[in-house]
Amino acid sequence: MKVRKAVIPAAGFGTRMLPATKSIPKEMLPIVDKPAIHYIVEEAVASGIEDILIVTGRGKHALDDYFDYTPDLEQSLMRSNKSAELEKVRHTAEMANICYVRQKEIKGLGHAVWCAKSFVGDEPFAVLLGDDIMFGHTPVTKQLIDAAVKYHSSAVGAQEVSLEAITGYSSLKIESLEERVFKAVDVVEKPTPDKVFSQYAILGRYVLLPEIFDILENTPPGFGGEIQLTDGLGALCRSGSMVAVDFDARRYDTGNLHGYLETVIDFALRDPGVEPWLRQFLTDKVRGFLMSDYINNKHTHEHGDGCGCGHDH
Ligand code: UTP
Repeated sequence: MKVRKAVIPAAGFGTRMLPATKSIPKEMLPIVDKPAIHYIVEEAVASGIEDILIVTGRGKHALDDYFDYTPDLEQSLMRSNKSAELEKVRHTAEMANICYVRQKEIKGLGHAVWCAKSFVGDEPFAVLLGDDIMFGHTPVTKQLIDAAVKYHSSAVGAQEVSLEAITGYSSLKIESLEERVFKAVDVVEKPTPDKVFSQYAILGRYVLLPEIFDILENTPPGFGGEIQLTDGLGALCRSGSMVAVDFDARRYDTGNLHGYLETVIDFALRDPGVEPWLRQFLTDKVRGFLMSDYINNKHTHEHGDGCGCGHDH
């Protein structure tokens, strides 16, 4: 079994990042100097993927423009001898063989994956969510491909999350197979606390057998009125053909404001060109916070609450 193709669903509305996502796809929001989707394509390529399909939607032209040639810009950079910039611009157009399909109605992740049916054909394929960036040694998609090949089954990426957080994810029912690999027996989407199977949540990466398309075709709308990929995965679990990999990487969810800011700061701190400046900036900020906390506490201690001096206590 060889996994050559990947699908990146990137058609969603990105409502948690409005108003920016009104005209910029959330997958195009910059993480330091590259858009989020750039890191995802890099992971797919590093995992041995040869062909990538990006599922786009209305107003998402910035995605296909990003991976295209830009002759005017390239000529201008060439004329001004900006060879490093030219190299960066060309690289984005040449990093992978990418094509696009439009999800005409935003009907959920399951529907977005189903839109890839004719691109995928009859072979296993990877799915990488367009707003989840993984940082680690071995690409997460590669970790999943290895498990899928070993167990001749679909594989999903999973990690343990808090009891509070699991109600916002898909909770897996699992049985141990080996270190970090489980047989996935069942799955439930966004469970209420009494319906949680385990604290292992499916997070952003999948390797799927093509039988998922027949399943999705017959999957009715589920949670939130959308066709949920999780409901299709449930059918794969129950037919005994899915494993879950507790992947070794840090996952960043760039699709909400806190996750996005965390991603930008962490990636900037890993960039040698930015790190010294950012470290100093953050250190000064923290010193400022500590100093103002100290002054406020001292003032309250000396004057007591409600002293009427006009300062914030
Ligand atoms: P999300 O649920 O995180 O994306 O889907 P969203 O719907 O855009 O987010 P909010 O809740 O409105 O803020 C994960 C990935 O699946 C894609 C999204 O673009 C995102 O990359 N997706 C989701 C689709 O391609 N189509 C859909 O119908 C739904």
